[in-house]
Parts: sequence; C-alpha cells; structure tokens
Amino acid sequence: MSKYVGAIDQGTTSTRFIVFDKQANIVSIAQKEHEQIYPKPGWVEHNPLEILTNSNEVIGAALARANLSASDLAAVGITNQRETTVLWDRHTGKPLCNALVWMDTRTDQLVQRFARDGGQGRFRSKTGLPLATYFSGLKLLWILENVEGARRQAEKGDALFGNINTWMAWNLTGGPDGGVHVTDVSNASRTMLMDLQTCAWDKDMLDQFHIPEACLPKIVPSSAPYGEIKTAPLRGTPLAGMLGDQQAALVGQTCFAPGEAKNTYGTGSFLLMNTGTEPVQSNAGLLTTLAYQFGDEKPRYALEGAIAITGALVQWLRDNLHFFDVAGQIEPLARSVPDNGDVYVVPAFSGLYAPYWKDDARGVIAGLTRFANKAHIARAALESTAYQVRDVVEAMEIDSGIPLSSLRTDGGMVVNELLMQCLSGQKCWQNLWDVLYCWHLERAVWRLP
Ligand code: G3P
Repeated sequence: MSKYVGAIDQGTTSTRFIVFDKQANIVSIAQKEHEQIYPKPGWVEHNPLEILTNSNEVIGAALARANLSASDLAAVGITNQRETTVLWDRHTGKPLCNALVWMDTRTDQLVQRFARDGGQGRFRSKTGLPLATYFSGLKLLWILENVEGARRQAEKGDALFGNINTWMAWNLTGGPDGGVHVTDVSNASRTMLMDLQTCAWDKDMLDQFHIPEACLPKIVPSSAPYGEIKTAPLRGTPLAGMLGDQQAALVGQTCFAPGEAKNTYGTGSFLLMNTGTEPVQSNAGLLTTLAYQFGDEKPRYALEGAIAITGALVQWLRDNLHFFDVAGQIEPLARSVPDNGDVYVVPAFSGLYAPYWKDDARGVIAGLTRFANKAHIARAALESTAYQVRDVVEAMEIDSGIPLSSLRTDGGMVVNELLMQCLSGQKCWQNLWDVLYCWHLERAVWRLP
C-alpha cells in the first residue's frame, strides 16, 4: 500500500515537487526557478517546454532525496499558476508560442474592444469576472489573432489550449500519444469562457470571443482519477488532483466552511473566502470563482480579491534596482528607517486588479524628496502590500457581510515580520495575534483511489 502522495506545484516563478505522507507532513521537496521573459513593457512570457523540463527535474530530485520511486506514491496532483495560457500542436507537442503569463497586459486593446459595448462588467453574471487582461479567454484570442496558423489549427482541433495544469496533465499522461486533455473547474473558471452555474464551456462566451470549442479541454472535477502518468520518473502513478494554486491554498488552509478565508502572499496576493455551494456575485470589485469540486460532490464557490503585484515588487527592487541581493534583506533595510519618509509606492506593473480593475494603471513611486533613500522606498514597498490587502479585505467585508476578524495567511512573504506588523496595523485587525500566519505550503487534498 503506497504511503505517500506527490504534488506538482507549478508557480509563476518556480516549480516544486513535494512528497507528503498520510498525515500531510512534507517528506521531501525540490524546487527550481524558470526564466521570466519580458519582450515588451507589460508583456510577460514563460517557455512551456522549460517548465516541463524543470518539473521532471524536481520530481526526480525530490524522489531521490527521500529514496522513493513512483511506486511509493498513491497518487499525484497538480496545483498551478492560474490563467497563464498555452496553445500547442497536438501532433508534435510543441507550443505555438511562449505561454502568456497571467500578469501579461497585451490584451488591453481586446479588453477595450469588448467593454465598449456593455462595459467592463457585462459578462460578470455568467462568468463571475470583469473584462480584464488577467483572464485566459482573451489571451487565447490574442494568440489566435496574432500567431501564424493558430486559428486554423485550433479550429481543426490540431492545436490544443490549456492553462498550465492542462499542459502538464496532457504531457504527463502521454502527450501526442494519447495524453488526456482536461482542466478542472477551478482553472476553467479563470478563463472567462465557463458558465459558473453549469461548470460547462459557455457557447455564448465562445461566440463572443470567437474561440473554437475544438481546442478546449474537457472540464473535470478537481479530484478524480484523470489517467495514469506515462512518463518517467512518475510512470504508472495515477494523476488524481488538479487545483489552481490559490484555490489549493484555500483547501490547504482547510477553509471548507462558508465564511472561512485565507490570503496568500506570493508573486501577487490572493484573498479567497469560501462561499459554499452557490456563487455570490460581487458588488465591490471582487471575483466570483470556483473554489473546488471533489469527485461528484457539488462544486464550492469563493469570492476572491486578486492583487497582481506584492512579492513581485520585492523581486523587482532586487533584480531591476539592485537594492539587495536576496529578497529577505528587504526587512532589515526597511527597518533601518523609522517610517516611510513620506514615500509611497503603487506597484501597478500589470494595471490594478481587485477592487479597481484598471488595466491602464502603471506603477509609481511618489513623495520623493532629497531626504528619501532606498530604505524609505523598501519600507514603502512593504507598506504597499498592506494597503492593497486592506482594499480587498474591505471589499470582502462589503460583499460577504462577514467581518474578517482573523485571516489565515501563507506564501513566501509571511516570514517578513515588518510586513505582518504593518498588516495588523491596518484598521481591519486589532493586533498581530489576529493575523494567524503559518508557513504552510499550498497543498491540495486528494481523495486517494
Ligand atoms: O492567478 C495567478 C496566481 O495563480 C499566481 O500564483 O503563486 O504562482 O504567484 P503564484
């Protein structure tokens, strides 16, 4: 009887493979970063083949570290950066272009085109989402309109669309030799092509966006035996779980009851509240999204406040402005001054997401004087995360009618004590102890076969 389960966590900046025992303890982990490609201002791409190679590498490394093999795993699940869009040739397995990453803003003209007739919220009641550069449907349309041959191939079903979970699942289960072409409800709900109530592709949205159904994956539950993995080093293991990474954090934090919420501080920050078996429409700028569906149970829904840039701002200060060498050094730097010296940072690198949804906003550093130095900017950068989170917490309280007296948090930034203190200083929490933060890795929960 296999004692372990494996999780492929394919995120925006890196890929991890984690082996858990039955008590959900981490037995082994390996991680590798992949290249961030910025061809133009606002454009962000990943190489899907590099992501595949890295996945195989971290899977092999994590198994080797614990002296395990595929036969020790009862099942494997995928959790993934959501919305990032891949279109590939089903016969060769080659992507038609790099993946368009969720934070890429190149679809801003398409957003304007569709919003002209009916406004930014015209598809909200059906899809739960405002028109924005964030979601996959318009990214796919961009590829169909701009990549040579893409539409012709997609219409014939020779090119397949997927988010990263779909791309990974298809490759793991056989690729051109019969890989399964599936996506789970949580990822499908981020395409803007799925009807939230029926959890099926919506014909009207496909017509509106001119998307051929032949290239779309089958929508499946988040937990089900999708197929057997055909490639080393996991050959023979059932692939049995798929969840968008922010929904996986909701599950990992055991937010199973309506009203329970978590916030993850990663590249961006994503606050999700479980709203139960009915979708709740937002009036305050949040997203209505699928949370998860286990087997043939009813799907569960969530309200989400998505913030595009939080940890990515720290990376930007490190990589583009060379303020420090490792991200953790931002804290002593920010602590070296007593306050922000009147400096404020608005990290709208990909426009502003919830609750504003302004695609054309761009980042600013304001309040600079001769007094200001990089420590003030570092402090203002951390504060910008707290201010953005405060905006989505307030929106969540309006939409749900539930005062958020505590919040489960996770993600790379929670080790930053100054940030956590700054968050707790926002009026939404009385003191630090109300912020229950824990160093959990996002992890999905699977029903084992
Ligand atoms: O919606 C984007 C989100 O899924 C990205 O998460 O952890 O890869 O930054 P992460």
